[in-house]
Amino acid sequence: MTMYDVILKKREGAALSKDEIEYFVNGYTEDAIPDYQASALLMAIFFRGLSRDETFMLTEAMMRSGDVADLSSAPGVKVDKHSTGGVGDKTTLIVAPLAAACGVTVAKMSGRGLGFTGGTVDKMEAIPGMRTSLEKDEFTALVNRAKISVIGQTGHIAPADKKLYALRDVTATVDNLSLIASSVMSKKLASGSDAFVLDVKCGDGAFMRTVREAEELGRLLVDIGAANGKKTIALVTNMNQPLGKSVGNALEIAEVIETLKCEGPEDITKLSLTLAGYMILAGGAAESWDEGYEKASRALRSGAGLDKLRELIKGQGGDPAVTDDSTLLPSAAFSVAVRADADGYTDRIAARDIGLASQRAGAGRETKNDVIDLSAGVVLRKKVGDAVKAGETLAVVYGNDKSKLDEAAEITKAAFFTESAPREQEPLIHAVIMG
Ligand code: URA
Repeated sequence: MTMYDVILKKREGAALSKDEIEYFVNGYTEDAIPDYQASALLMAIFFRGLSRDETFMLTEAMMRSGDVADLSSAPGVKVDKHSTGGVGDKTTLIVAPLAAACGVTVAKMSGRGLGFTGGTVDKMEAIPGMRTSLEKDEFTALVNRAKISVIGQTGHIAPADKKLYALRDVTATVDNLSLIASSVMSKKLASGSDAFVLDVKCGDGAFMRTVREAEELGRLLVDIGAANGKKTIALVTNMNQPLGKSVGNALEIAEVIETLKCEGPEDITKLSLTLAGYMILAGGAAESWDEGYEKASRALRSGAGLDKLRELIKGQGGDPAVTDDSTLLPSAAFSVAVRADADGYTDRIAARDIGLASQRAGAGRETKNDVIDLSAGVVLRKKVGDAVKAGETLAVVYGNDKSKLDEAAEITKAAFFTESAPREQEPLIHAVIMG
């Protein structure tokens, strides 16, 4: 078998066999297949698609490309949460502490930013001293002690996904249902948790644009989980405007802390409580989602969630004082305000463009090896439905490279659409798919 033959077969639209999929996944993981051939196959998959069987086989090959973690020494049901990626989606760092504060064990591996979307690991690295890479024993000890640890995907867990994820990011091959499903589930299955709550983002700021596509992805994710004996719940949630107000690593950490102090934006608070409710249900700490939601709300109001975040930060070498003093987070040297031209109501904020503006300001990578500016990003002063006066600030763009900020500000301005009357709010949660 040669990689040329595999690429050609998929380019012609034929289904790949298990052997061919394993040949590609193992060869690429071991550096025997170069980036240019892997890119060609990804593009052929993007245009030709994978069948359900091929997707299951790809997931399994990627899961087996490294270690499958054994978390059995940590007590209780281990629950993981994953988002398919959005703009301003900082829910992991709110939801995981809330669920852990309610008795659920959260042993989580997170990813970095991908395309216009941010990643939890990059966000966590904005916290001074915070380590996102822990040795296996240290990770397990923290999970046992604090019931929570959030680390980056180690080189041993689904290494095929780690390499392919970075390659897809720079070859415009991210937004394919089968590639997303196999990427998400290979690493979730390999990371050893017992149950998964998956947030499938849907809309302009997500890889899945329509509710129908997102539901299809949610169903596929739940089915892959079930086929592997894991309780899996997928929520399809709205990503037609950025989640919360802040987009960019340190800026989002500040919003996480505000939210855990009950001072966060309404959408992020509601979505976080909803996801935490499902994690608490999946972890067996509640009999129903309503009970889980209620427990999460209590943990938010009592400050138990914030205490858990502090414990997590401290346990991973970070400075928990950031939770009381956000000036300890990286801050940008420059900012540019984006102002409204006319009176009206914010009708739409193109989430994808806000993600791109934040990336352009320095918060995201444009090539695999780019170093990101942790302080960069965009803070919205207006959300959809808000009244706006001409000259008022719609958003502020932050960063350390002044030359990038004017372009980021232009993209931000073009992302705001104003109308003379307020529009009806779209639902935040479109669907819940239970395994
Ligand atoms: N999240 C993932 O983990 N993988 C993808 O491919 C897209 C979003």
